[in-house]
Amino acid sequence: MEYIKKPTLENFKIFLEIYKKRPFKNNDGGIKIAHAFSLFFFLKSFKPTTIIESGVHKGGGTYIIRAACPEAKIICLEPNLEKIEYRVSNCEYLREDFSLINFDQFNINKDKTVVFFDDHQDFSKRFYEIYHHKFKHIIFEDNFHENNNLGDCYSPKQAMSNSEYQYTVKKRNLHNIKSFCLFVFDYLTKFIRFKDEYKIEHNLRYSYFKSNFKFFPKNNYISKAVKKYIKLYYEFPQITFIKSDSKYKKQKLNYFYKDELKSFNLNTQNYFNKSILFEYEEVKNLILDNNINLNEVLNYNFMCYCLFDFTKN
Ligand SMILES: C[S@@+](CC[C@H](N)C(=O)[O-])C[C@H]1O[C@@H](n2cnc3c(N)ncnc32)[C@H](O)[C@@H]1O
Repeated sequence: MEYIKKPTLENFKIFLEIYKKRPFKNNDGGIKIAHAFSLFFFLKSFKPTTIIESGVHKGGGTYIIRAACPEAKIICLEPNLEKIEYRVSNCEYLREDFSLINFDQFNINKDKTVVFFDDHQDFSKRFYEIYHHKFKHIIFEDNFHENNNLGDCYSPKQAMSNSEYQYTVKKRNLHNIKSFCLFVFDYLTKFIRFKDEYKIEHNLRYSYFKSNFKFFPKNNYISKAVKKYIKLYYEFPQITFIKSDSKYKKQKLNYFYKDELKSFNLNTQNYFNKSILFEYEEVKNLILDNNINLNEVLNYNFMCYCLFDFTKN
């Protein structure tokens, strides 16, 4: 796999030149440096002609995608288009959910298209949608760990480990109550202010609302289906890892995760452990000189690349 390779320090330096010009220094709620670097490096190596970004937030990820692939067509999906602050050219901005898009209209070459899911939607749902559209190259940002309760959506990591949803009933119910209140609030405020316009959007918004509900079924059958069609599962490694400095809150978490990075080979059905990209000492000065907060460097969630082959029966 030409495009799955370990980046060098030189690659990281080139990326930092781009990263330091990013439109938002504080991209809270959006992509952080570890995933941004992997996304950048992967896209630059793979050279897709189309990238679909589902979940745009302010547009920090779109900046990275455009920097990696200046010529590619980008399709950005974001229900809250109003919150996008940074827009790029040669890009369609759509409000619809991925499941509602007719991708035939874009004349896409699926061999050279990457779908970047960063929308906190369940992988079980997304898996059926990519199966339906026969997309092959998927990057999933919210790849929550199988052994903890931190995530808000089912992830490829959980599918690959056969784990069932980890969420408690209380957490699920709280999430659903919150979704319901937000929907009612959004509906009432917008409906009163933009009555006619809002009627048109009603159906669309209702479908987001529904897709936000979590039912958490037992999920072994999703694991089986994913494993049937996946050719490669690869967790992008962390940039670095700080061994001894206890002032960084996430350190323990990252220490625990350090040796767990996985790569899955369909032929052998084996996982291979991956390591961090660079020793801290190698990149410390680069990080500090570029004013990158160390907590941001440690912000990491196993973002993965999945290669699917849906031609099998
Ligand atoms: C983590 S943020 C995206 C970060 C962005 N990709 C970046 O790189 O900075 C998640 C976004 O997903 C959006 N979202 C929520 N439901 C969605 C859906 N069904 N389809 C696409 N985006 C959705 C949210 O409005 C939010 O802006």
